Amino acid sequence: MVLNWRFTEQQIPRAAGRIDQAQIKDGTLSIAGWMLLPSRLCSPPSLFINGTLFARTEQRQRPDVHEAHPWIDHAGLSGFAYSGSAEGIASCESFTIELVLFEDSFPCGYLATLVKTESIPPKKEEHPPLELIRQIGAPDVESFEAQGLKVLTDFVQAIQLSRGLPNTRRVLDWGCGCGRVSSPFSVFFPDVELFGSDIAENCVDWCRIHLHSSRFVKSALFPPLPFADSSFDVVLASSVMTHLKRTVQLVWLQEMNRVLGPGGLLLASVLGDYAFKREQAVKPEARSRLYNDCNSLVARTLLAFRGICDRTPNEGLAGKIPAGYYMNVFQTEKYTRAAWSQHFEVLRYIERGMDNYQDLVVLRKP
Ligand SMILES: C[S@@+](CC[C@H](N)C(=O)[O-])C[C@H]1O[C@@H](n2cnc3c(N)ncnc32)[C@H](O)[C@@H]1O
Repeated sequence: MVLNWRFTEQQIPRAAGRIDQAQIKDGTLSIAGWMLLPSRLCSPPSLFINGTLFARTEQRQRPDVHEAHPWIDHAGLSGFAYSGSAEGIASCESFTIELVLFEDSFPCGYLATLVKTESIPPKKEEHPPLELIRQIGAPDVESFEAQGLKVLTDFVQAIQLSRGLPNTRRVLDWGCGCGRVSSPFSVFFPDVELFGSDIAENCVDWCRIHLHSSRFVKSALFPPLPFADSSFDVVLASSVMTHLKRTVQLVWLQEMNRVLGPGGLLLASVLGDYAFKREQAVKPEARSRLYNDCNSLVARTLLAFRGICDRTPNEGLAGKIPAGYYMNVFQTEKYTRAAWSQHFEVLRYIERGMDNYQDLVVLRKP
């Protein structure tokens, strides 16, 4: 499948933002969401579909985004919307969306995703059960599917930029969960041999039945993985390091180095500075069990002085693995670059490069 992106080669800073709606109904394309650069107010983004300029979007007020970003004065003006003819794309099975903020004609903020159109009927029975979807942190089937396409987009663009997709034959989705990324990956890239591993047996069981019976494995809490040295060209880690303590991250980085071939890439997301500020802004009564202590003195002190805050347990796998292993971990760019370069060359650190929220670290095995 050919995916047309216009801006993959240009390293435009990732805006903060989200597409809340992207659908084609009765020949009308409707897209809405919010997008902002923390440093300055921009005009609403331009919309590119399948690599071609499609429309300029209209600005919308977003009080909810303002509330979520109390440290950014212009956050309330970050909403955008477009509604118009879907001519030319209504018959496609999928299409690419790129939203670009411009300043003096230069692109300065970017958000991209793949979208499946209604012409592919949602086969809900093929989605994992809600219990598994919630276990990996998605609220419902629709978000699970949209997030999978979004994260896939971010990974694929980073691979294209760093080693090229044609050179990528074997990929490991490490911490694959119940296939949020693996499922769309295998649809869009059927020629790539995709493997997956996870410590959660119920997730791996689902992937083995619905994706590939022998390529998905349950792995142990600590290395080794059941793969030979230099097995993979690329390892994807979507929101896995975000759950591992400092020492455990380092042990697994060494193992990723072992299973990657020379020149292989590890793409791993982390909760960085932007995510920490967002979680600090959440009102106490709305705070979830996921990120509940970002305002505490301990969390702020650890982040400021050690560069990593890895003391908050995440209850998502409670009863399935020993307590104290699965955490919520925030870390600074400075810490990540210094600690992770023990095992890898840090090729890129893309702020908000994963889902325009987590940071994406692109590492290369020398
Ligand atoms: C937030 S979920 C993300 C799942 C998947 N990557 C995605 O994006 O949908 C984190 C996943 O990492 C898995 N995990 C945590 N520690 C792991 C480890 N040491 N090895 C493999 N998987 C791990 C968890 O079981 C969980 O499925």
